[in-house]
Amino acid sequence: MSTTPELIAKLEKLGDEFLAQAQPLADEQSIRAAQAQFLGKKGKVSELMKELGKLPPAERPQVGAAANKVKEKIEQLVEACLVRIANAAKQQDLARKVDITLPARPVGGGHLHLLTQVRQEAVAVFAELGFVVAEGPQIETDWHTFEALAIPKDHPARDMQDTFYVSEEIVLRTHTSPVQVRTMLTQPPPIRIVAPGHVYRRDDDPTHSPMFTQLEGLAVDTDISFSDLKGTLLHFVKRFFQKDLGIRLRPSYFPFVEPGAEVDMQCSFCGGSGCRICKQTGWVEIGGAGMVDPDVFKNVGIDSERFTGFAFGMGIERMAMLRHGVNDIKFYYEGDVRFLEQF
Ligand code: PHE
Repeated sequence: MSTTPELIAKLEKLGDEFLAQAQPLADEQSIRAAQAQFLGKKGKVSELMKELGKLPPAERPQVGAAANKVKEKIEQLVEACLVRIANAAKQQDLARKVDITLPARPVGGGHLHLLTQVRQEAVAVFAELGFVVAEGPQIETDWHTFEALAIPKDHPARDMQDTFYVSEEIVLRTHTSPVQVRTMLTQPPPIRIVAPGHVYRRDDDPTHSPMFTQLEGLAVDTDISFSDLKGTLLHFVKRFFQKDLGIRLRPSYFPFVEPGAEVDMQCSFCGGSGCRICKQTGWVEIGGAGMVDPDVFKNVGIDSERFTGFAFGMGIERMAMLRHGVNDIKFYYEGDVRFLEQF
C-alpha cells in the first residue's frame, strides 16, 4: 500500500513513462494503443487510482489533482506525437524525387464503335443529298410496324420477319420502316429522311443477330420516280465505298412498296470478280427498296394522286462487313477490344 506522496510520485512518473514508450512510435495506430494502455479503463492511471479509497479522505483531493494533471500531460503528448508523425510523412513526401523527364504512360484512347462510324458515314452521304435524320422508337406498335405498311396480321409477309412480341399490339420493331410511317404522319411532303437504328428479329447465326442495325430512307415529293431511287442508291454506293461499283435492282416483294426490289451492289471486296465475301458471285445484297405503295400513302393521309415516293432499307452490319471483311456478325457486339481496336 502506498502513502499519498508515494502515490503522487507514481502518478507523476507515468508521464515520463508514456513519453519514453511513445517517442519511438511512428504510426497513429500504435500511439493510440499506447494512449489506451495509460488512459484506458484498465490503464495504468486507473490502476493507481484504485488505491485512492485506502487513503485518508482529506488527502484524496491532492491525489485526484495529480491524476488529472498526468492525464492532461499524456493527452498533450499524444497530440504532439501525432503532429510529429504527420510532419514526418509530409517531409518524406516532399523529399521524394520525381523524374519529370520520364515519358508518360500512354493513355489508351477510345473511339467510336465500327458500326457507329459506318452509320455516321452513311448518313453523311445522304445528308449531302439533302436527307435529314429521323428517328422512332425501338419498342413500336404493331400498327406502325406492320398494319400501316400494308402488312395485316394474317399476311404471309409477317413470316419474313420473325417478330419479338412485347404484347399483342406492341413489338420490337423488325425493321426501321415504321419511321417512314411516323414521318409521313407528322410531316407534309416534300420529305427526305434517313432513319438509322436498331431492329430486332428472332434470328441467330453467323450472318444474323437478334439485334442489328438498319438505315431506312424515304423521299416523298410531287415527281419522285424509280430512276431517282436507283440514282440515289448508286450514288450512295460509289460515294460510301469510294469505288466505281455498280448496283442492280432485282424485282422483289415488300407489301409497302410497288414495285419493290432487292438491292445488290458489286462486291467491294473483289470489285465484282468473285471472292469469299460475295460467295464467288461478284454481287452482294445490301437491302430492299421500292416505290411507296399508294395503300401506305392512304394509311398516313398523303394524297397518292399528287405525291409519289421511294423508300429503301439497308443493313449497316452488311456495309461494315463489306468495307472491312468482317465475317461473323457477333464480332460487332461482343465488345472484344482486339476486334474493336482495328477500326
Ligand atoms: N423494311 C424492309 C426490310 O427490313 C426493307 C425495305 C425498306 C424494303 C424500304 C423496301 C423499302 O426487309
